[in-house]
Amino acid sequence: MRSRPQHRSSPNPSVPAPADERPHDGAPRGASPVLAASNLLGRIGLDAAGCARRLAFLAFDAADVENLAKLRAFAHANVDGIVEDFYGHLLSFEETRRLLEDDETVKRLKKLQRQYFLRMLDGDFDRDYFESRLRVGAAHANTDLRPEWYLGTYSLYLRLLADRLSEHYSDDPGTLLALLGSFTKVVFLDMGLAMDGYILNGYVDRRLAQDYRRMAEVAERALAAKDELEQAKADLTGMIVHDLKGPLGGILAVTQLALRKASGAASDRHFAQIQRSAQDLMRMIENLLEIDQMQAGRLELRLEPVAVDGLLAECAAEYRAAGEIAGMTIGVTVAAPLPVMVTDRWLLRRVLNNLVVNAIRHSAAGTIELAARVDDAHLEIRIRDSGRGIPPEEQAHLFARAGRARSAHREDTGLGLVFCKMACERMGGTIAIESAPGRGTTFVITLPAAASL
Ligand code: HEM
Repeated sequence: MRSRPQHRSSPNPSVPAPADERPHDGAPRGASPVLAASNLLGRIGLDAAGCARRLAFLAFDAADVENLAKLRAFAHANVDGIVEDFYGHLLSFEETRRLLEDDETVKRLKKLQRQYFLRMLDGDFDRDYFESRLRVGAAHANTDLRPEWYLGTYSLYLRLLADRLSEHYSDDPGTLLALLGSFTKVVFLDMGLAMDGYILNGYVDRRLAQDYRRMAEVAERALAAKDELEQAKADLTGMIVHDLKGPLGGILAVTQLALRKASGAASDRHFAQIQRSAQDLMRMIENLLEIDQMQAGRLELRLEPVAVDGLLAECAAEYRAAGEIAGMTIGVTVAAPLPVMVTDRWLLRRVLNNLVVNAIRHSAAGTIELAARVDDAHLEIRIRDSGRGIPPEEQAHLFARAGRARSAHREDTGLGLVFCKMACERMGGTIAIESAPGRGTTFVITLPAAASL
């Protein structure tokens, strides 16, 4: 006949006084040599009163001490089977098996596990007990075993003991319940201390750092993939735009030939119109290609001596016919002879072309004037039209590639102006606008005169 286990007999439990007041039995049982010398209790500031408080919170009392004493003989008789089943379970899950790859480790751990389990039933919750549980938690944190697997294993402990106990006490459910209740309190005490061990070991900080690192890597990979995609898109666009130049060049050559053999027939006007449209298209294609080259820092300047007044006259001559069709006259004003500049003739000429085309497009009729002057430091070129002008709120976005859209005042997407700004800056200068609705528009190019001969 089994004696009845105690049930919460005393409100003032005879829980053994924690370590501070008790003799220490030397080396901790089952302790890792690495952590053996450590004082983890001190590091979390858990003194004798703190330990007693934890036990009190679990309602651990004298009855529990007696119950554990009763369990001891049963535990000794069953510990080998419990430990075998314990590791059988851990070996059946990938997440825990990975830490138990070699037989030697499992053999060593079974021995330590045996000691650990039996010590739970000692009823001797002294300072050394608390310290050893912290150490075991810290040791597991060191193996990088995630806490959910570690804590989950305590339920295995409970189950393995409960299965065996319920068979043994099948005719005495009251005792079974009381014994399991006391054992459960110890399990929860150990779980709390194990968590402290994980925290002490810096597991949470390490985990967070790992997560942040992983997140940063994912973000970096996503950005790189996006850059690659954008580069691929830009390359493809560049190739298509470049390929357009070939057939367009063909159209221009044929129309030029046809115009040279001008017959005075109506078809001549049509050819002239085709030529202007093809030139326009070519100018836009070249804008696109050169904007991309400038953005990628790949546009090399081809410097040469340039007579700027001659360049303005050339430009005015090229667009005079187109201007006349639109009811505009194009004139050149150069106050005093200009010095010969060293600059990229082709690039500057293309800036002027774009600005003149822009002026023709945005003026109903009137005049376009190309003017230039030079002082000690700068060459200033002004392209002035008598057109309808540009409202201030549009001027701010005129030279920006991003967010270009058609507006009531401008029929095109205005990439020509984006090109002009980038090209002027590439030549070491600037471009600015002076305009007001109804008062025409002047684009002012300023280039360093130091580049003059
Ligand atoms: C109720 C849960 C567990 C208890 C009570 C327990 C108990 C122990 C004990 C007493 C040690 C020796 C610690 C020391 O050297 O100071 C240990 C080490 C170890 N345990 Fe556990 N263990 C538990 C869960 C697990 C789980 C789920 C795994 C996963 C496979 C695991 C794997 C290990 C490993 C790999 C070591 C060796 C650590 C080292 O030497 O660095 N344990 N365990």
